[in-house]
Amino acid sequence: MRKPADSSVDLHPILAERWSSRAYDPAATIGAEDLTAILEAGRWAPSASNGQPWRFMLAHRGDKAFTTMVSTMVGFNQIWAPNSIVLIAVLARMTNDDGSPRATALYDVGLAAAMMTVEGHHRGYNFHQMSGFDHAAFSAAFGLTSDLAPVAILAVGKQVGAEAIENEAVRERELAGRERLPLTELVIQTH
Ligand SMILES: Cc1cc2nc3c(=O)[nH]c(=O)nc-3n(C[C@H](O)[C@H](O)[C@H](O)COP(=O)(O)O)c2cc1C
Repeated sequence: MRKPADSSVDLHPILAERWSSRAYDPAATIGAEDLTAILEAGRWAPSASNGQPWRFMLAHRGDKAFTTMVSTMVGFNQIWAPNSIVLIAVLARMTNDDGSPRATALYDVGLAAAMMTVEGHHRGYNFHQMSGFDHAAFSAAFGLTSDLAPVAILAVGKQVGAEAIENEAVRERELAGRERLPLTELVIQTH
């Protein structure tokens, strides 16, 4: 199913066609080169002072880390996310070496996630970002130090048709249109 962006001018096809599906093939796999390319795309993201505060945790469907990540998710995400091939948890180093706060950590990490998403879609995978998980439970389950904050979990899957989704609420969201605020509301005029 396609849901191209209704933009006022043409966008790069990957940007126009990217959207967050919840219909994933539960038997799909990912090649090692594709997965490495996705991680490399995150690695090569820009960051303030080249601080690279991102850390990535990988969990493959069927392994223990995957089950643990899913167990921390809110109920809605637990319905569809288990069909992902891989879950990539994106973490942020929130402090500098001297303990002072890293003001741009979340911004930098979001850029890395965006880069991974674009590379992943280019390679034929669908990405769906999630903040709907218990961050404290996630940190506890993986023994994260307080410096390392879980920011989002990226579901990576092979998209299938919406009819594959059994849950009605999830199928409804899958079929819903994509909406954005108009540019006139987003661009603040300068004088
Ligand atoms: C930081 C972040 C957190 C999100 N959390 C969830 C989530 O927990 N569950 C979910 O189903 N979708 C989640 N989404 C997906 C958004 O709902 C989706 O990106 C948005 O509705 C725009 O749709 P599109 O990505 O198809 O353009 C999240 C997206 C982002 C960027």
